[in-house]
Amino acid sequence: MKINRLQLKNFRSYQSLDLHFSANPFIVFSGQNGSGKTNILEAIYLLATTKSFRGARNSGLVKEGADSYFIQSEIVDNMSDSHKISVGFSLQFGKKLTFDQNEIEKVKDFYGSFLGVVFSPGDLQLIDGTPALRRKFVDNILSKSSNHSYLNSLISFNHTLKQRNALLKNFANHKDKNSLHVWDRLLAESAYQLIKARFVFVDKIIDYFRDFYNAISLQNESVTIKYISNWLLSNCDIDNENQCKDMFLSILEQNFEIDIRNGNTQFGPHKDDYALFLNQKPAQFSTSQGQKRTMVLCLKLSEYSFLRNNRNEEPILLIDDVLTELDAYRKDFFFEILRNKGQCLITTTHFENIQGSWKSMNHQVDLFEVRKILQGSQANQVIEV
Ligand SMILES: Nc1ncnc2c1ncn2[C@@H]1O[C@H](COP(=O)(O)OP(=O)(O)O)[C@@H](O)[C@H]1O
Ligand SMILES: [Mg+2]
Repeated sequence: MKINRLQLKNFRSYQSLDLHFSANPFIVFSGQNGSGKTNILEAIYLLATTKSFRGARNSGLVKEGADSYFIQSEIVDNMSDSHKISVGFSLQFGKKLTFDQNEIEKVKDFYGSFLGVVFSPGDLQLIDGTPALRRKFVDNILSKSSNHSYLNSLISFNHTLKQRNALLKNFANHKDKNSLHVWDRLLAESAYQLIKARFVFVDKIIDYFRDFYNAISLQNESVTIKYISNWLLSNCDIDNENQCKDMFLSILEQNFEIDIRNGNTQFGPHKDDYALFLNQKPAQFSTSQGQKRTMVLCLKLSEYSFLRNNRNEEPILLIDDVLTELDAYRKDFFFEILRNKGQCLITTTHFENIQGSWKSMNHQVDLFEVRKILQGSQANQVIEV
């Protein structure tokens, strides 16, 4: 997959921007801090997920003083078919998504039509942050995978959970255990679909993760990922659907009083986690910053490999400010890996630091200089560098 053109209107610091990209695999945005580099990658990621990778709300993405933003792009997929996609948002009318000029009503029908993997300094949170962040990371990947079955199960699970929690909160008034059981059985259906897909995912991604880590780490270290469930006991066979569902239902039954006291559901896939280990020890407690950076880099590369194989389509890589944090060896290694990975959009404050790496790749780079100007930001292509 490749992006040929990007147009922005009133998005973040850009009043108006129209960028054309050549066939070069590397596109570099260079500029000072605060000039508007990440804003460009954020806009592209919005086309892939409809969400900001910085967690910003839509209203915060509209340029100050404006009342709507518009992002449009031309992409070419691996069949060489080109498509036009857009995400617009107006403070008054909300979000509007289009694919080849047709409006897409539901986010789920738009999600994943454009594949992007983002690398950003915030990724360290995948190790240090809460289980919710790791669940979101995996949920996002699986939602973009080849069919929408995971996304459908996730939507159905979240909807059912909401209904069950509402009944729990109000239980003292209606004492209707039968209605609760109806939701329990529905919840068990989607809970099983989710956990099964997550187990399969961990099984697949673990190989990519180990291969990348072994290649990049000069030491003889071992890494692994484990799925940690707070309700599925280890003696349960994940392929045995009925056994897993029965286990879930009995956990709900056992914790019925606790759930009522709390007014929400304490056990289920919405509380599970993915544990990362380095040399058999939990990564967040025992790992140096450098090792953590290497681990998240490898996790993101694994995301790329998983999506590429699953979708038979090369995701676009959005690499935000991470190169400056890597030492010379890992930077060269990372560039070497990126060399065969399709289109990479890279931001940097210190272009000279990566110049050596791209020079060795025969100048296959489009370079844009990003500057802050009076009415916002500007990105100009530098032809001769
Ligand atoms: N909604 C907005 N309206 C106008 N400017 C914004 C908006 N959101 C962010 N900015 C501006 O964008 C700039 C930061 O852009 P960013 O892409 O994060 O910079 P960097 O080049 O460091 O990656 C800041 O100057 C900020 O004021
Ligand atoms: Mg930035």
